[in-house]
Amino acid sequence: MTRIIVFASGKGGTGKTTVVANLGTALAQLGKKTIVLDADVTMANLGLMLSLEGKEITLHEVLAGKKKAKQAVYKGPAGLNVVPCGMSLEGIQTVKLERLKKVVLELADNADFLLVDSSSGLGHDSIAALAVAQEAIFVVNPNFASILEAMKIKRVAERLHAKSPELIINRTSGERTNLPQNEIESILELPVLGVIPEDIEIKRAIALGEAVVVRSPKAPAAKAFKKLATTLLNQRLNMA
Ligand SMILES: Nc1ncnc2c1ncn2[C@@H]1O[C@H](COP(=O)(O)OP(=O)(O)OP(=O)(O)O)[C@@H](O)[C@H]1O
Ligand SMILES: [Mg+2]
Repeated sequence: MTRIIVFASGKGGTGKTTVVANLGTALAQLGKKTIVLDADVTMANLGLMLSLEGKEITLHEVLAGKKKAKQAVYKGPAGLNVVPCGMSLEGIQTVKLERLKKVVLELADNADFLLVDSSSGLGHDSIAALAVAQEAIFVVNPNFASILEAMKIKRVAERLHAKSPELIINRTSGERTNLPQNEIESILELPVLGVIPEDIEIKRAIALGEAVVVRSPKAPAAKAFKKLATTLLNQRLNMA
């Protein structure tokens, strides 16, 4: 059974794309057939993060009905399958978001994991992405602004009947201003699946279009992504 997981956030820039790229690569490194899909149809950048920008066939062409889902799948690090999204205005204007569900189901065939990167906030595209996934993970930062925005997306996810969401806290540091994990869990009433520290190696890897788990496997963030991948796999064992 394929686990289809959407990564969402209320606030922009919390690290959804970074998490999808690196967690996806870590799952692929563990031998799992994994697909990452950039469903941020207006501000795509998952392809860019994995050096797969500028491809002719992307999710845009698939959602426009011009190409088949399989034609938009490219090989990324460690055998990860990547479906990038285009960036052209024409592409944005021709997508039909109502096709997303069918595309996701086509892609999911035979995969262990399909990780869906979505846009932040409550626009049409993020709601479409939330609606197609069986599971939702909210990527938050340890500050009030991020948690308050996550509250809004949580309410929408509940209305869409997503399986009880979980949290990833990204960019934790030793700073006293960081909200502690137990406080974040009790405000949002959701469990934390994993914590990714603030790590300069993430920025360095992104600048080179590489996954940190490949470029700097010993970096604290890379270790955290690997641990997170194992946690997801163990959940799968528990569910079986
Ligand atoms: N753990 C981290 N340590 C250091 N920098 C990070 C970390 N996570 C993310 N970043 C930085 O934050 C930037 C934004 O991350 P990312 O693009 O993944 O966020 P996003 O939630 O996908 O944003 P958007 O809402 O615009 O789609 C990255 O380019 C990177 O520079
Ligand atoms: Mg993003």
